[in-house]
Amino acid sequence: MTGLSQIGVAVIGVGSMGRRHAENLLRAVPDARVVAVVDANAELAKKVVSDLGVDGCYSEVPAALERKDVDAVVIASPSRLHAPTIRAAAMAGKHILCEKPIATTLEEADAALAAVESAGVCLQVGHMRRYDPAYADAKRRIENGEIGRPVIFKSIGRDRELPPMSYFQAGGMLFLESSIHDFDLARWLVSDEITEVQAFAGALITPELEKYGDVDCGVVNLRFSGGAIGNVESYRHAGYGYDVRTEIVGSKGTLQVGYLEHTRETVLTAGGAAHDIVADYLTRFADAYVLEVQDFIETVRKGREPRVTGRDGRNALAVSLAAQRSYLERRPVAITPTNT
Ligand SMILES: NC(=O)c1ccc[n+]([C@@H]2O[C@H](COP(=O)([O-])OP(=O)(O)OC[C@H]3O[C@@H](n4cnc5c(N)ncnc54)[C@H](O)[C@@H]3O)[C@@H](O)[C@H]2O)c1
Repeated sequence: MTGLSQIGVAVIGVGSMGRRHAENLLRAVPDARVVAVVDANAELAKKVVSDLGVDGCYSEVPAALERKDVDAVVIASPSRLHAPTIRAAAMAGKHILCEKPIATTLEEADAALAAVESAGVCLQVGHMRRYDPAYADAKRRIENGEIGRPVIFKSIGRDRELPPMSYFQAGGMLFLESSIHDFDLARWLVSDEITEVQAFAGALITPELEKYGDVDCGVVNLRFSGGAIGNVESYRHAGYGYDVRTEIVGSKGTLQVGYLEHTRETVLTAGGAAHDIVADYLTRFADAYVLEVQDFIETVRKGREPRVTGRDGRNALAVSLAAQRSYLERRPVAITPTNT
């Protein structure tokens, strides 16, 4: 137990994801207090501070880490900054919720995990799909043995539209930023590590992505250490909506998670049947983002092991990097997950 009545939080990076975390902490987590916001874009930081009524406004991380009333940080800056920010926060004795991926290389991830370990702080990684009520229920059913032993994992992750080109210039790679959610689900739902991948991918809709070494669609075949197999499809430009679906085929049954409708309304006319489609991740996983920050603050308060650990973040990253390598080298790539 921390013994603190309220956990003071600094949110680092308040673009789309960080702002949502700050809003959720303020609105839905009475045991947390957002005391500072940090963003390299000083104008944006000022706006968020003014919109949300937060006290501290910073454009650099170290100044916020110096605050005594900051007990924890939420890191939602660009992915390349995650590992150095985890290290700095750990060295300052702050607990950490870090967005995925925890790093962009395994060396950086391991150095960040070592800093967390030696500081004895809590690190939770932002694989929020585990908090989605449907995915959480699927996990519970699998653990209850309802579908027997998982043998095939299949997951689809399609964005409605391509992010702006600036996103790719900053290094937003498909396997590292998108497929990693499915790799985490795969490890979690199958309760096993992925030890081999073979990826096929291409810049099929937007050939300009090739100059950034990136792709807009990819499929990755998976092999788990216990023999189960799987497949993950990631696509940046579905056009019709945000489409995330997963199927776990077991020895006694199959579980399907995911839906397209945002509202439970279907309109039937002579022209056919129609329903709306979830537009984006902030809508589809709205509940999961709230439950994620609530659980983080509870974890910090109770001093317990986080539900999504640094090791989870590190091993999901290892799968993403192996998929990227498999695509580039046109061969299956083996992975050595860590148990520590
Ligand atoms: N879990 C999820 O569902 C999910 C969804 C989207 C994004 N993400 C992750 O969240 C992170 C942010 O993504 P986003 O879509 O919000 O990006 P974004 O570009 O909207 O926001 C990033 C913010 O970080 C700021 N920033 C840049 N350098 C900084 C620095 N040195 N210190 C502080 N702030 C800095 C930028 O000015 C920007 O406002 C990424 O790592 C991404 O992978 C996770």
